[in-house]
Amino acid sequence: MDRIRIVGGNRLNGTIPISGAKNAALPLMIASLLTSDTLTLENVPHLADVEQLMRILGNHGVDISVNGRRERQSEVYSRTIHFTCRTIVDTTAPYDLVSKMRASFWVIGPLLAREGKARVSLPGGCAIGTRPVDLFIESLQALGADMEIDGGYINATAPKGGLVGASYTFPKVSVGATHVLMMAATLARGTTVIGNAAREPEVVDLATCLNSMGARITGAGTSTITIEGVSSLSGARHRVLPDRIETGTYAMAVAMTGGDVILEDTDIHLLDNAVEALRRAGATIEPVERGFRVARNGNGIKPVDVVTEPYPGFPTDLQAQFMGLMTRAEGVSHVTETIFENRFMHVQELARLGAKISLSGQTARIEGVEQLRGAPVMATDLRASVSLVIAGLAAEGETMVSRVYHLDRGFERLEEKLTRCGAIVERIRD
Ligand code: UD1
Repeated sequence: MDRIRIVGGNRLNGTIPISGAKNAALPLMIASLLTSDTLTLENVPHLADVEQLMRILGNHGVDISVNGRRERQSEVYSRTIHFTCRTIVDTTAPYDLVSKMRASFWVIGPLLAREGKARVSLPGGCAIGTRPVDLFIESLQALGADMEIDGGYINATAPKGGLVGASYTFPKVSVGATHVLMMAATLARGTTVIGNAAREPEVVDLATCLNSMGARITGAGTSTITIEGVSSLSGARHRVLPDRIETGTYAMAVAMTGGDVILEDTDIHLLDNAVEALRRAGATIEPVERGFRVARNGNGIKPVDVVTEPYPGFPTDLQAQFMGLMTRAEGVSHVTETIFENRFMHVQELARLGAKISLSGQTARIEGVEQLRGAPVMATDLRASVSLVIAGLAAEGETMVSRVYHLDRGFERLEEKLTRCGAIVERIRD
């Protein structure tokens, strides 16, 4: 298994190109199941999760062709991928494929809408809490589907004549369940109104793409989304939006090490809340053409409290990274996780680098230390593992991160992007 070796202490200076968003690319790819025409997605990141979803879609009958493309001098590999699902050859998503990635469960929406049935294994994914599927079941039942759990699978069946539009309000905000209900409702008869919908930019990106395919969706980005069902969808061409979590991660890395970096091909407004927290922590952040500049020179890191919330609140996917930053703040800060239980697995690994963190329920109290010291650490989930990289970049000496397959699920060419800004980061292939 590969490891990543980091020698800390260097400031970051230069330009980091931001990739397309993993969390937008996955539902967009799944939307290709809704049409027999070709859906072309540009700016698709090269990540383990994307490759895994391609295998899953291939199993359902999606024909996939990939064009790698070197874009501009910054060498962004922006892949354009064509997805064509002339016919759905299999409505079953088996355990061995779905268990590797939770988002693959989302195929249930399009399969049910287009074929009237789906048999999908209950999901796996990051080990961060129980992550149930009750909201998917309830919301698809609202469209008339019969949902039955049998032997680790959900058997979903639409009523004769297909799904029927309905009003459904989520008792809790869920990104995935919003994606799925929105996709399923595009082909339902009549109008669906989703209340308490997730407002994440990735939901807006999916709605924009679905509308280009002929769907009639309004209100994405607000808590109420209205979908007027249509009889069929066509192909489209869509560019995946920039990855706000990757953007925020590198911004936090710069705030941690000091230096001056342009984050390119991204949008500051995708992460207003995190930008505000970084400014309070002492980073200078200003928009530039096609991105923004983040710098910290001279001044120390100030302690800042954050609480994770659904968008537009502070993202849970940046919680671990922000905690990494706070380990070197000049004082005490608190990080409260409200979205997932058990999303503090990075705490004990950060402690190995000398961080002082204590947990009380869903809140971590971080007492900043002057210096972290490199150590062997282990990646535990996708976002937690990158917090260890951030801490390693500022630690004295060598940090060796093992189990980096977690990082490969969500960060495209991480070592290369950091190395080009002056960090000492290398992948050791065992
Ligand atoms: C998505 C993101 C993930 C991010 C999360 C929250 C992708 C591929 N993943 O995950 O990176 O951390 O949003 O921003 O986009 N829940 C239920 N019942 C359900 C579904 C969810 O109780 O049926 C709960 C979850 O356990 C969690 C909360 O709802 O506590 C939010 O989860 P959700 O928004 O669904 O996360 P994902 O869509 O899986």
